[in-house]
Amino acid sequence: MQNILVTGGAGFIGSNFVHYMLTHHAQYHLVVYDKLTYAGNLDNLIQIQDDPRYTFIHGDICDRDAIEAAVKQHDIDTIINFAAETHVDRSIMNPDAFIKTSVNGTYTLLEVARSLELERYHQISTDEVYGHIPPGRSSKETDNVAPRSPYAASKASADLLVNAYHVTYGLPVTITRGSNNIGPYQYPEKAVPLFATNAIDNLPLPVYGDGRQMREYQHVRDHCEAIDLVLHRGVIGETYNIGTGVEVENMRMIEILLEALDRPRSLIRHVVDRPGHDRRYSLDIAKITALGWEPDHSPEEAIIATAAWYKENEWWWRKIKSGEFRQYYEAQYGERLRTAAPQ
Ligand code: NAD
Ligand code: TYD
Repeated sequence: MQNILVTGGAGFIGSNFVHYMLTHHAQYHLVVYDKLTYAGNLDNLIQIQDDPRYTFIHGDICDRDAIEAAVKQHDIDTIINFAAETHVDRSIMNPDAFIKTSVNGTYTLLEVARSLELERYHQISTDEVYGHIPPGRSSKETDNVAPRSPYAASKASADLLVNAYHVTYGLPVTITRGSNNIGPYQYPEKAVPLFATNAIDNLPLPVYGDGRQMREYQHVRDHCEAIDLVLHRGVIGETYNIGTGVEVENMRMIEILLEALDRPRSLIRHVVDRPGHDRRYSLDIAKITALGWEPDHSPEEAIIATAAWYKENEWWWRKIKSGEFRQYYEAQYGERLRTAAPQ
């Protein structure tokens, strides 16, 4: 492993991964290949723009010719696919781009990896492929996928393709399924950065339904460290869950955020729930911990560190929240907030 194509590397986790890899592997060349959708942002990579070990290519993972050209030009041996449409609420509004990118795009990357006989293809997946998990149970990698949102279904479809390419063609693949990531550079449509930035501005926090849904909020750096471990010590053909093993109710996450930002509970608004909202995800992380990994942050530490980052980095999120985001916010929350009862 030497020259890595990081698709979706201008997004939240992909950019954190590039920073992580450049810090921990002095010899690697990281080629970010990204379409720069509304979620892609070169500000996330600004600190390394002059690093000779980093290259940026603007492109779509559905464009086979462009990917092949990038792989050949940079002598790529490994593809790590972070590229996806990633927000459940947007997938409910319009699933089209989710299917195109995760199904057609993953298929296209797999075809390139197969035809050019790459050393490794790694797929970044999510705990959402397992669907809602009843209390008392945790998802193992061998469980069947049972996605319930268009986003989760698009990601599960990609995982099935990746496994099929391993079984059928012997492509050397690995998959990691991460729980909810939080930390620097997360587009403020996702719950934690949305609530943090709203709270900083004393705006209401729109909590779906009763807010008792549970997520495994993990620090993005811990997730990147585990991906790196799987790249180097994971078994070909295997899938690894990456989470904290600790679930946090959304209301608890909000309490921690509000306390960290010194803002009142009166900002909380319970609004109309997300259709098909998965109440609980829970990962069994025995397989990744057996490889020698454990998270450095507790969920509480991750939430507090994330709140601090958004407080210190208004330069990053204020321009996002004043652009396209405004129309999205009105479509997603306008009516919900107008009809919400105060806390
Ligand atoms: P993000 O939305 O912040 O970034 C996605 C990136 O992919 C953007 O830079 C975007 O421009 C790019 N992209 C989208 N469509 C593309 C296309 N057709 N071709 C090339 N680039 C394209 O997402 P994220 O939160 O960083 O998630 C990255 C990956 O991790 C995704 O595959 C997601 O499903 C997975 N994941 C995310 C989380 C989470 O909590 N955010 C948890 C587990 C897994
Ligand atoms: P989100 O960050 O969208 O991630 P997920 O992919 O897990 O849905 O949402 C995290 C949790 O927060 C989830 O239970 C939905 C909830 N949520 C709200 O209550 N209000 C919001 O405005 C958003 C975006 C999410």
